[in-house]
Amino acid sequence: MDHYLIVLFHLLCAVLFVGAVAMEVLILEPVRKFIGDETFQRVEFYLFRRIRRTYPLAVIPLYITGFYMYFGYVDNLGGFESFIDTRFGQLLTLKMSLALGLLTIFASSPFVFMRQRTRSMGGHIKHFFVVTGGPEDFRVDRFETVHYLAMGLGVGIVIVAKLMFVL
Ligand code: HEM
Repeated sequence: MDHYLIVLFHLLCAVLFVGAVAMEVLILEPVRKFIGDETFQRVEFYLFRRIRRTYPLAVIPLYITGFYMYFGYVDNLGGFESFIDTRFGQLLTLKMSLALGLLTIFASSPFVFMRQRTRSMGGHIKHFFVVTGGPEDFRVDRFETVHYLAMGLGVGIVIVAKLMFVL
């Protein structure tokens, strides 16, 4: 497929993913003081459940196209050693590491945000794919730390993505 089409697809997925985090931090969090903690917890739980269901559709292609382009650049620059010797290769690898950090937050979020009722292995696996429990199980006290960290990583990734073409 044409490289520019892959980049376009990568960017559209990135906008959807980082945009969702930005909406939660910049729009939802400030509204908390007007709607109260209980309503905030309910809204955030249903939002979280919806995001977990829909966002893999953007997150999975984002990372597949990213890695596809990453290894394409490694090949074009004559292997990993010469690739990592370039400023572009170093920044792209930094970007990949930040992106993997963000993916870890996304993947582990059911365990971070939801109080778990079942401790058995089967319960954990189910919990990973389907958000179980109700709004009262949502750890609203962890909302700020995790979302600020996720947004910081998202913004950092986009800045590094542009810097790697100019430095
Ligand atoms: C949250 C995750 C990610 C975000 C927000 C993101 C964002 C971006 C942005 C904004 C660009 C600049 C595109 C342009 O203006 O031309 C870009 C390019 C790029 N990204 Fe990502 N990216 C993410 C994940 C990844 C991952 C995991 C990899 C691979 C390891 C990757 C590899 C690349 C590559 C190789 C380019 C250069 C494309 C080109 O040749 O123009 N990205 N990304």
